[in-house]
Amino acid sequence: MARVNRQILLRARPRGLPKLSDFEMRESPVPVPDDREFLVQAIYLSVDPYMRGRMNDRVSYAPPVALGAVMVGGVVGRITRSNHPDFPDGTIVEGRLGWQDYALSDGKGVRRIDPTLAPISTALGVLGMPGLTAYFGLLDVGQAVAGETVVVSGAAGAVGSLAGQIARIKGCRVVGVAGSDAKVEWLLGELGFDAAFNYKTEPDPAARFRALCPQGVDVYFDNVGGVLTDAVFSLLNVHARVSVCGQISQYNAERPELGPRLLWGLIETRSKVQGFLVSDYAPRFKEAGAALAAWLKAGRIQYRETIVAGLENAPKAFLDLFHGTNVGKQLVKVSEE
Ligand SMILES: NC(=O)c1ccc[n+]([C@@H]2O[C@H](COP(=O)([O-])OP(=O)(O)OC[C@H]3O[C@@H](n4cnc5c(N)ncnc54)[C@H](OP(=O)(O)O)[C@@H]3O)[C@@H](O)[C@H]2O)c1
Repeated sequence: MARVNRQILLRARPRGLPKLSDFEMRESPVPVPDDREFLVQAIYLSVDPYMRGRMNDRVSYAPPVALGAVMVGGVVGRITRSNHPDFPDGTIVEGRLGWQDYALSDGKGVRRIDPTLAPISTALGVLGMPGLTAYFGLLDVGQAVAGETVVVSGAAGAVGSLAGQIARIKGCRVVGVAGSDAKVEWLLGELGFDAAFNYKTEPDPAARFRALCPQGVDVYFDNVGGVLTDAVFSLLNVHARVSVCGQISQYNAERPELGPRLLWGLIETRSKVQGFLVSDYAPRFKEAGAALAAWLKAGRIQYRETIVAGLENAPKAFLDLFHGTNVGKQLVKVSEE
């Protein structure tokens, strides 16, 4: 077994867009599990937009990562040494074990993964946090029902691609927006979106949304915020619901962006705008996990993963989320399955 544990630490708090130099790699000895602890070797590491918030020196819904501490992140890995009766050697697990080769755990917040159900990487995507986010954001917050028009921004990402497909399963008309022609092709082809466009080449997104949503918008699943969201707000129907999942266009803004003042429209339409955190739904994760697994097994949802090899490439993979390099879920492969 390796003796060295490579860890990626937060070195500096970024201003604006993060840089590779905001991270550093440290090598330390592989830790040894105590009684009722086990050691996990990372196989896949998830990089996610929420990590940008953890780099700030500001308590949000979760505390920041301390300078010099290991970056937070979801990991799928294998238990290589265990002193815990419930987690034997060889078990595949998923948990927030951080950007490192090896992590100790006492089992809290760690779940066992059944490798016969689906590829183990899906525990960080369609059968993990992004899948749960799409499910609750669309069905509980968005209350989407058959026949309604659902707009999804960030539609070719981990969460957005699933939110759109769940909306299709529920009989909605789904319109997506994403940042490349290849992404739009994927949405319209394999994923069965009814309409989609590339916002990076569209000079007038508001006009395009209007053309693609002739019946207006009943549910807006918002992953991005900014000008795209301003454009969708002007199309909300009476009693529309806006499910505010993410605002990635704003995460690197050093000052809040000024936008049109749209609240008057909410009075006219009696629309609801609600932010949510997937973690608030923990008591219902089993329900959503079962639904997602059944849809996946039946071939009713498709997923893609963009996988970068090597722990040392995790910072770059994370930064690339802000450039839209990923299609579907962005993962880092840390070691062989
Ligand atoms: N509320 C919750 O509990 C919860 C849980 C998970 C995730 N989230 C949020 O959900 C959103 C999606 O997360 P994810 O993990 O699925 O990430 P993702 O969509 O797989 O990756 C991020 C995507 O955002 C798009 N993007 C980047 N900068 C943008 C900009 N300025 N304007 C528009 N789009 C931009 C890029 O795609 P393009 O090529 O299309 O630009 C990129 O691929 C994020 O905002 C995240 O913070 C919220």
